[in-house]
Amino acid sequence: MKFKNNVAIVTGGSRGIGLGIVEAFINEGATVIVASRNEPDAKNNNIHFIKTDVRREKDIKALVNKVVRDFGKIDIVVNNAGIYLDENIDTMSLDLFRDIMDTNFTSTFMLTKELAPHLKKTGGNIINIGSRRGLQPLIDGPIYAAAKAAVINFTKGSALVYAKDGIRINCICPGPIDTEGVGSVFDNKDELREFLISNPLRKIGTPGDVAKLAVFLASEDASFITGGIYTVDGGSSLI
Ligand SMILES: NC(=O)c1ccc[n+]([C@@H]2O[C@H](COP(=O)([O-])OP(=O)(O)OC[C@H]3O[C@@H](n4cnc5c(N)ncnc54)[C@H](O)[C@@H]3O)[C@@H](O)[C@H]2O)c1
Repeated sequence: MKFKNNVAIVTGGSRGIGLGIVEAFINEGATVIVASRNEPDAKNNNIHFIKTDVRREKDIKALVNKVVRDFGKIDIVVNNAGIYLDENIDTMSLDLFRDIMDTNFTSTFMLTKELAPHLKKTGGNIINIGSRRGLQPLIDGPIYAAAKAAVINFTKGSALVYAKDGIRINCICPGPIDTEGVGSVFDNKDELREFLISNPLRKIGTPGDVAKLAVFLASEDASFITGGIYTVDGGSSLI
């Protein structure tokens, strides 16, 4: 077991990619705290839920305090919570712009800042969930793409800042992965399927595909790896 006696926080771990990572970490012996707006779909004695809105600084501070108080330490953090919706720059309100930035990026900054002192003690690590869209924008989601580009560059910058403290920080950029979040953007099942297999490998990616890389990056096997940006997208970012 790679994560025996380890305590991990996964934001947005109640479903989709986040839940896939929670389950993979549990299988490797971790105790996992799901920091999300909703209770996780899965039940397990090693999964603990702390209701958190990652856009709110007071929720982030309360989360970190509670985890340290109840579990004594933090070893692994996965900044996964995110939102995607169809965007139109011409009509977008500043409130919606801020919502997209806060959920997808500002939350990552806040958690990194609050957790660094605790991760320093455990020699822990952070995995940020970016997106292939942070490498290559799309016409229907330019603000989402900008937020994910910020996540990618912040991964590199924060990895540099905290390397002296022994904290590793890496980023996974998924491509189309079959989740409820992606499904909610499509009305039509055929269009959803075509979107999901629109990658060079012509396969449907699953949360488990992302989770396998998250397990590797969070484990001792990746002890010489920091500031890395890794796509899990069936080659989507190549076309
Ligand atoms: N599925 C994909 O194809 C894909 C591709 C690229 C990147 N991503 C990224 O992967 C991550 C997970 O995506 P998914 O497809 O599993 O999404 P999803 O919508 O299925 O799940 C998102 C999770 O984040 C939580 N969340 C959203 N806003 C929150 C907030 N303010 N506070 C706390 N929790 C919040 C939701 O409750 C949910 O648990 C996101 O960051 C997303 O941008 C997904």
